Amino acid sequence: MVTFFNKIYGCQANFADSQGLAKFLVELGCKQVMAEKDADLIIINTCAIREKAEQKLYSYIGRLAELKKDKPHLKIGVIGCVASYKKKEFYEYFECISFVHGAREEISALQGYLAELILNIQTAKSLFLQNPDSKIKYLKQDRRLKKFFDKQATGSDQISISRLNLTEQIKESNTREEEQIKEDDTTESEQISDVRAMINIMTGCNKYCSYCIVPFTRGREISYPMSDILNAVKKDIDRGAKDITLIGQNVNSYIDPQTGARFPELLQKVASLEGDFWVRFISPHPQDMTKDLFQVMANNRPKLTAFLHFPLQSGSDTILKAMNRNYTSAEFLEKIGWIKELMPDAGITTDIIVGFPGETEKDYLATREVMEKVQFDQIYSFIYSKRKFTKAYNMPDDCPQEEKARRLSELQMRQREISLDQNRKNIGKTLKVLVEKELEPGKLLARTEGNARVLITSNNANLVGSFVGVKIESTTVVNMSGTVIVL
Ligand code: SAH
Ligand code: SF4
Ligand code: F3S
Repeated sequence: MVTFFNKIYGCQANFADSQGLAKFLVELGCKQVMAEKDADLIIINTCAIREKAEQKLYSYIGRLAELKKDKPHLKIGVIGCVASYKKKEFYEYFECISFVHGAREEISALQGYLAELILNIQTAKSLFLQNPDSKIKYLKQDRRLKKFFDKQATGSDQISISRLNLTEQIKESNTREEEQIKEDDTTESEQISDVRAMINIMTGCNKYCSYCIVPFTRGREISYPMSDILNAVKKDIDRGAKDITLIGQNVNSYIDPQTGARFPELLQKVASLEGDFWVRFISPHPQDMTKDLFQVMANNRPKLTAFLHFPLQSGSDTILKAMNRNYTSAEFLEKIGWIKELMPDAGITTDIIVGFPGETEKDYLATREVMEKVQFDQIYSFIYSKRKFTKAYNMPDDCPQEEKARRLSELQMRQREISLDQNRKNIGKTLKVLVEKELEPGKLLARTEGNARVLITSNNANLVGSFVGVKIESTTVVNMSGTVIVL
């Protein structure tokens, strides 16, 4: 049997794509494994959103090349956003890579290729197992890797050579939330739990925010037919999924290619499906946010969760304009007002970029002011990273990196206090949560309707996949903790 491992960098869109591929491979008779060393096929889904995401990827591929020395039938493929524009480089510099498939290319072509590849791996694997001495050496490969990194280190998309240790086991944190606490600028995703299903309702983006590479890596916006989405949701519910996330770079510009239905209608239809489950979505664009969407959410609770990821990016109108975001901070706050009015207990999170070209201290303080007004539950914050193809690439930027780092660090420090305050409000309360997975024996990870993390002390791993009541006893910035009181 051919085993595969999915490595996922990047956003939920990549999650959903990798989850889809995993289902496809399982249907072909393959088995998903949780460690690279156990896999015959490794598919790396890549993210280009910030430079650091790319750096981590190259370091990771370097380590995989080592694995291949002992397992010649191991195949490694690269898909996703970096694959969209660095195909040539991957083939040229990484001999260990067998295929590269960009995020804009047809998924059916990849599936066809994989179906054939699995047969080849199967044959090579049996031959290798019969005669392990036939091991092929991959010495040339290291030389090529080194050459690539040397070249990159002198180029504009710099890779720091000192970060690359091909045999080192880099400690990687499990969740985006945990990473945010430790360091800025990383995107790496946690393993998919079967309880959660990610469904892409569209791909691409037409917004062209001036800092963002996504419209170039994923292409123009394409919405998928509502009937297909509803079928996919139904399938996931039948499979046992309890938390469905509908994903798009800009979900509220969704338009059903068959009926012309818009996003609120899609949500309403998903909420009308049979079953006991939660639905959330990411991300809406503040420019396109209308009150009727909040109304649909409020009318369909708890199936539609009171959770909103609402990306602010900056609180300064000058910077928002330069970012091409098409809203002002006042408009953003007005829309936050709508959700607070309709769902006062909603979980609200956001994305913020500091140090966009031209950002002054005053602009930065405007962002801090919006944070104070909204009191977000969680913020994903990043230092601006210059990306190829984008409009901001050529914008003059005279703010030193250390100053940007200071702004980010102060902003994150303040957010930790706010997040802690938000979590503390729940101490002593009983919250309905969905148990997502067993983190370790005796400790379960669950989430609230507002997407907040709750650690449960319990030896009952059978609770995974159930909604339970948890009395919150203590909290940190990232995790509330408690015990199950209602079954
Ligand atoms: N479509 C989503 C965001 C996708 S990217 C939206 O519009 O909200 C996720 C986040 O990465 C963005 O919200 C932004 O905060 C951040 N980001 C995107 N490009 C960036 C860049 N060049 N530098 C730093 N952060 C960036
Ligand atoms: Fe990027 Fe803006 Fe599109 Fe989000 S809306 S994916 S930030 S271009
Ligand atoms: Fe990254 Fe592509 Fe998502 S660049 S954030 S994986 S759309």
